[in-house]
Amino acid sequence: MKILVTGGAGYIGSHTVRKLRQANHEIVIFDNLSSGHKDAIKDFELFEGDLANKQDLEKVFSENSFDGVVHFAGSIEAGESMTDPKRFFDNNFVCGLNLLEAMLAHNVKKIVFSSSAAVYGEPEKMPIKETDPKNPTNVYGLTKLMFEQVLDAYDHAYGLKSVALRYFNATGADPSGDIGPDHKNKTHLLTLILLTALGKRDAIKIFGTDFPTPDGTGIRDYVHVNDLADAHVLALEYLTNDNTSNKFNLGNGTGTSVLQVIEMSKKITGIDFKVIEEPRRDGDPANLFASSQKAKTILNWRPNFPEMQQIIETAWNWHSKHPDGFKE
Ligand code: UFG
Repeated sequence: MKILVTGGAGYIGSHTVRKLRQANHEIVIFDNLSSGHKDAIKDFELFEGDLANKQDLEKVFSENSFDGVVHFAGSIEAGESMTDPKRFFDNNFVCGLNLLEAMLAHNVKKIVFSSSAAVYGEPEKMPIKETDPKNPTNVYGLTKLMFEQVLDAYDHAYGLKSVALRYFNATGADPSGDIGPDHKNKTHLLTLILLTALGKRDAIKIFGTDFPTPDGTGIRDYVHVNDLADAHVLALEYLTNDNTSNKFNLGNGTGTSVLQVIEMSKKITGIDFKVIEEPRRDGDPANLFASSQKAKTILNWRPNFPEMQQIIETAWNWHSKHPDGFKE
């Protein structure tokens, strides 16, 4: 199939385009490079455009005949969404509507959407199932939930079929070590830990040691970026075969605490680094992990990196080879 991938030069996007190509899809990446990297997509066709600009969208859709869209582009920093909500409503909601308008105008009726565990907020029971209540605690999660609801309405009214993939904590890097996470604004735990090991940062801060968890630190479900990438390929297959809209959690179903990630990272890197205990970060839940049974049953999704150790090893391979990221 010929697939338009918005945000394909970003972290999860750049891993997914490789998997889509391996599955024999033809790819056009649509990215404004505001946070993506050209070096992450060297062998791919890039259309440099902005979802805010309807003319860019019209151009890419009229120059190509797409069978489907995989939509990654958007803002991701949950903390910033509370201080700059406009950017999140613009980038994650309004730009998404522009994309759907262009899709419908060109009769493209399949989309795989990057949603997030943030749609659930702070659930009362674990593991989190797709049917559990959705009460996002930040604007980021709210924009993801709103867009999922738009997709439901567009299916009902216009027959647009979608799969929303609710990622838990995307982590790790392609085992080749030539692409990996390189966000301008670095907030993700494992990236900060490994940059500390490399001496790029002075210390890693633990945000909260008084959570109601066995070691007092926050627990998350870390999932390898290539396993997320595989799920997009499967979601497109599912849309082609079943032609029904659906939503899936993507996580490993196991929780790892901040302290455990730090200890494992010290072992894998062989480097001891400074750790500082800090108060909790505003709005951080104690414990989040997924049930991904639905993705396993319906999409036949099988994570290849179920162990945290393997995930950290691939991330270390990337960061130690590229201590300054893509360096553009
Ligand atoms: N943490 C630290 N120190 C740090 C950074 C993080 O202790 O320097 C802790 C956090 O408190 C949390 C865990 O490490 O307990 C993971 O934090 P991240 O910032 O890596 O990830 P979050 O779980 O906060 O959020 C991530 C994505 C969001 C997404 C969410 C979905 O960043 O975009 O997962 O569950 F919405």
